[in-house]
Amino acid sequence: MVTEVMAVVKKFLFVGLIFGMCGIMSQGMAEEAAKNEKEKSELAKIMSEIDKSYKAVEEISGYYKYSSNDWKIIAEASTNLIKLTKIVISKFPRPDDKKYQDLNKTMLAESEKMSDVVGHKDEQGALEDAQWQVRRLRQTCAVCHKHLGIHLYPQLYPGKKDELNPGQEEIPAPKATGVPKDW
Ligand code: HEC
Repeated sequence: MVTEVMAVVKKFLFVGLIFGMCGIMSQGMAEEAAKNEKEKSELAKIMSEIDKSYKAVEEISGYYKYSSNDWKIIAEASTNLIKLTKIVISKFPRPDDKKYQDLNKTMLAESEKMSDVVGHKDEQGALEDAQWQVRRLRQTCAVCHKHLGIHLYPQLYPGKKDELNPGQEEIPAPKATGVPKDW
């Protein structure tokens, strides 16, 4: 009788032990996965924010006239892009990849130029200047992603799968804009 009870108790202990181990292991694995996810996505998260601001200006870039609300969108987007790019530059530098470093600086410069355009939004050619900056930004995104082998745009813009990444080809300058073409 006593041995029978002992056997049952042992069985329970054994099963309990197995369950306990599984629990600890899966918890450990979940933590590990969460950690990887976090490590992987901090830059990705900022990129998503950059993407939001970029898309906001891209969305209205086909307009032939900007309302004051449109200009507000451009002002906000360029402020965000400047802020976010500065974070990328300071928090995610890649000292051994000069091209990456340079392209981040380009992204900052183009965002700052976009912000400058808002400053003279009532002058002639401001609309074209803003549109030009959208294209310059898009090209910077595309060149860096291409440099790093990141294939985003076909996913981001379904339906354009067969085309080159937008912005990969050099875009001719529009006529008569105030923004210096210093590249
Ligand atoms: C200097 C290089 C560089 C530039 C410029 C750049 N990116 Fe990225 N981008 C990256 C890298 C690196 C990743 C991968 C981040 C990761 O997964 O850790 C990335 C990832 C992304 C992602 C995917 C984020 C996700 O959720 O996984 C989006 C969207 C994106 N970039 C949008 C943009 C847009 C829009 C621009 C231009 C306005 C831009 N990027 C400019 C380097 C760059």
